[in-house]
Amino acid sequence: MLRSLTLLVLAASATAEYSSNINYRSPSLSHKLGISLPKVLKRHAKRQAGPSYADANAVNFTHGVASGDPYPESVILWTRASLMYDSDRSNVTVSGTVPLYNHDTQEYVRASANPICVDYNVYADQNLTSVVTTGRAYTSSDIDYTVKVEAGGLQPFTQYYYQFCVCGSDNRSPVGRTKTTPRPEDDLSSIGVAVYSCSNFPNGFFNAYGNAARKDNIDYVIHLGDYIYEYATSTAPRPVEPQNEIFTLYDYRRRLATYRTDLDLLLSHQKYAWITTWDDHEISNNGYRDGSSGLNNTEQSFEEDGRVSVDQRKMNAVRAYFEWMPIRQVDMDNNLRIWRSFSIGSLFDLIMLDTRNYDRSITTLNWNNDYVTEISNDAGRTLMGSQQENWFYNQLKNSTATWRIIGSQIVFSRINVTTWFGSETNPYNSDAWDGYMSNKNRTLKTLYDNDIGNNVMLAGDSHANWVSDLVWLDHANYSSASGAGSVGVEFAGTAVSSSSPFGADSTIFECNNQSRLLIRDNEELQWQEGYYRGYYEMQITPQRIDAQYFGMPSLETRNGYELSLGNFSVVSGENKLARPVGGAEVENGALQTGEVVMTNVTHDTNTGEWFIHDFDRVTIDTSA
Ligand SMILES: *[C@@H]1O[C@H](CO)[C@@H](O)[C@H](O)[C@H]1NC(C)=O
Ligand SMILES: *[C@@H]1O[C@H](CO)[C@@H](O)[C@H](O)[C@H]1NC(C)=O
Ligand SMILES: *[C@@H]1O[C@H](CO)[C@@H](O)[C@H](O)[C@H]1NC(C)=O
Ligand SMILES: *[C@@H]1O[C@H](CO)[C@@H](O)[C@H](O)[C@H]1NC(C)=O
Ligand SMILES: *[C@@H]1O[C@H](CO)[C@@H](O)[C@H](O)[C@H]1NC(C)=O
Ligand SMILES: *[C@@H]1O[C@H](CO)[C@@H](O)[C@H](O)[C@H]1NC(C)=O
Ligand SMILES: *[C@@H]1O[C@H](CO)[C@@H](O)[C@H](O)[C@H]1NC(C)=O
Ligand SMILES: *[C@@H]1O[C@H](CO)[C@@H](O)[C@H](O)[C@H]1NC(C)=O
Ligand SMILES: *[C@@H]1O[C@H](CO)[C@@H](O)[C@H](O)[C@H]1NC(C)=O
Ligand SMILES: *[C@@H]1O[C@H](CO)[C@@H](O)[C@H](O)[C@H]1NC(C)=O
Ligand SMILES: *[C@@H]1O[C@H](CO)[C@@H](O)[C@H](O)[C@H]1NC(C)=O
Repeated sequence: MLRSLTLLVLAASATAEYSSNINYRSPSLSHKLGISLPKVLKRHAKRQAGPSYADANAVNFTHGVASGDPYPESVILWTRASLMYDSDRSNVTVSGTVPLYNHDTQEYVRASANPICVDYNVYADQNLTSVVTTGRAYTSSDIDYTVKVEAGGLQPFTQYYYQFCVCGSDNRSPVGRTKTTPRPEDDLSSIGVAVYSCSNFPNGFFNAYGNAARKDNIDYVIHLGDYIYEYATSTAPRPVEPQNEIFTLYDYRRRLATYRTDLDLLLSHQKYAWITTWDDHEISNNGYRDGSSGLNNTEQSFEEDGRVSVDQRKMNAVRAYFEWMPIRQVDMDNNLRIWRSFSIGSLFDLIMLDTRNYDRSITTLNWNNDYVTEISNDAGRTLMGSQQENWFYNQLKNSTATWRIIGSQIVFSRINVTTWFGSETNPYNSDAWDGYMSNKNRTLKTLYDNDIGNNVMLAGDSHANWVSDLVWLDHANYSSASGAGSVGVEFAGTAVSSSSPFGADSTIFECNNQSRLLIRDNEELQWQEGYYRGYYEMQITPQRIDAQYFGMPSLETRNGYELSLGNFSVVSGENKLARPVGGAEVENGALQTGEVVMTNVTHDTNTGEWFIHDFDRVTIDTSA
């Protein structure tokens, strides 16, 4: 029997092969968040002199493949090649131990940080006959056996297939598919993207990921954050590991690993290059630069109850995120920087923000909500920090593409939430852009003063659907009926699976009542919906953008059902939602003007049967 050792003879190129795995240096060496390659190489050489424990065929590609952050000539490829399914428990750079089989003594030993070697091939065709580029990388316990490489030398806007293989063996990963972006100057007729946020594993199956992958109408996937949740959960139907609230590096790795067992998430990663940013739950609820409500801290970092400090927790979360996500580190020396942009031909510039963790001023932590409300208009408050803000405004000013699409975590439009969770004294959600009014105004001022049009804000975080004209209220002379006065649109999407913000157990009628009140109290908000979990797709062309919103009727099983909730368009140069908004007819929620035609779909999980109940047409009474 062929027993190829994973520990291949070390050539002089080993350094290159280690450094080709971006995760060793990621996200930043200068902040002690990366791994020292000289240390790893020294250990590697030492181990090589001793017995080898790993059998190439015992290595498992435990969590499929993924790709992301496409550029015109390169793309990030990801896999995990490990002897064990579990994540690595070490949280220092060199101490990891794993049970490994020693073929000489025929017994398991605990060996530390044995490196595993993988080759990768990128192919032009699905049949894997035409190799375009190939490379080699090592991985080890230091980085939880993740592999992240940049495959270069590719052609712009081209579909590729890729596969990893344990070096010197026939042990191969699943085949992935990916696509590079066009060059900035390339003209394109159409690009499709699916937009997601707030995927909570214990809440239900990630059918939203699978449905877009099964339809295959898109080129790329955008995720606006809350890819995982940090909470403790112990309840079926979908328990997560570990069951405690996550704090340590192991915890974050293990949680990400659990999420990556959802078959629809795996399918989407396997088929598309993802472009992600994070929100709060990748680290901890209601986060900001210095902490989160989960830790109930203020500006201070402290250790309490034997838990890790705020800073250590953030480091653990960030390191695990970079290990597991197919994301680039655009500037290794700019601590925790994830904000970056993509040029998608002359069609659009995609500006991905970090309004959450990079340099955000204090947010609502429950006990301080009144204080944050009081200071929400302070000019010094920022969601992004001055460095990112300046970069953002320059990106907007410099952009020459037809559209500017901005990936924000939180809802941008000013929303009076008095009837939902606001109050007379604070009608706004201070954990969204509304808690940072001057940062919002600076953004709007940049757009208005520089006459920048065709802007599309994307947002997640809220677990509900919000479609609005993008407008500087109290400054522009906005007409809700015509949309005049706005500078673009906002497409904010519901959660993949996190509960309705109007109450996890709220009926569709209760949710729609709440939607009607929100529509009544917010003139620029043209459609609101809070009952369905789901996602939206955008088809982007030089002439228009069409956004289609989908609702998942049931997350209790893995299933391919979905409802078309509403279709919204923006025509190039018009800078507002096309009228009548949503074609004056949506499936659910509430519209400023138009009808809601509801279909109630129920699923009997025992028999697997689906029932469709038609409701009567409901004409929205906006004075309700
Ligand atoms: C490899 O991992 C997959 C899940 O990722 C698992 O189903 C399979 O049993 C593993 N194979 C071995 C040999 O451990
Ligand atoms: C790929 O393989 C399939 C099945 O073997 C075959 O039908 C198809 O023609 C092949 N495609 C190309 C481009 O070679
Ligand atoms: C390091 O890992 C150990 C074992 O998993 C854990 O007990 C400890 O709390 C971790 N420390 C930090 C700082 O994450
Ligand atoms: C959180 O911290 C604040 C300020 O120190 C304190 O007033 C409040 O009681 C704390 N809340 C909890 C739940 O510990
Ligand atoms: C934001 O702009 C509006 C419209 O000009 C203005 O009424 C409001 O005071 C501004 N708020 C802040 C905090 O700049
Ligand atoms: C914007 O363009 C100016 C002038 O060409 C340039 O100096 C600046 O670096 C650009 N900024 C960005 C963010 O690309
Ligand atoms: C918010 O809406 C409520 C009605 O729900 C209204 O009484 C209040 O005046 C509004 N606040 C603002 C600032 O528009
Ligand atoms: C709004 O309308 C008023 C009155 O016609 C006008 O003075 C003002 O300049 C307009 N504001 C903007 C931003 O166009
Ligand atoms: C859907 O209709 C069924 C049957 O009329 C009803 O029992 C159920 O409560 C409805 N579901 C919702 C979400 O309204
Ligand atoms: C929805 O609002 C209407 C009108 O205010 C009310 O009659 C109805 O009872 C409400 N339905 C629910 C489920 O709350
Ligand atoms: C949205 O558009 C699609 C495709 O044209 C159509 O099938 C669907 O019914 C529309 N949805 C709604 C709610 O109008």
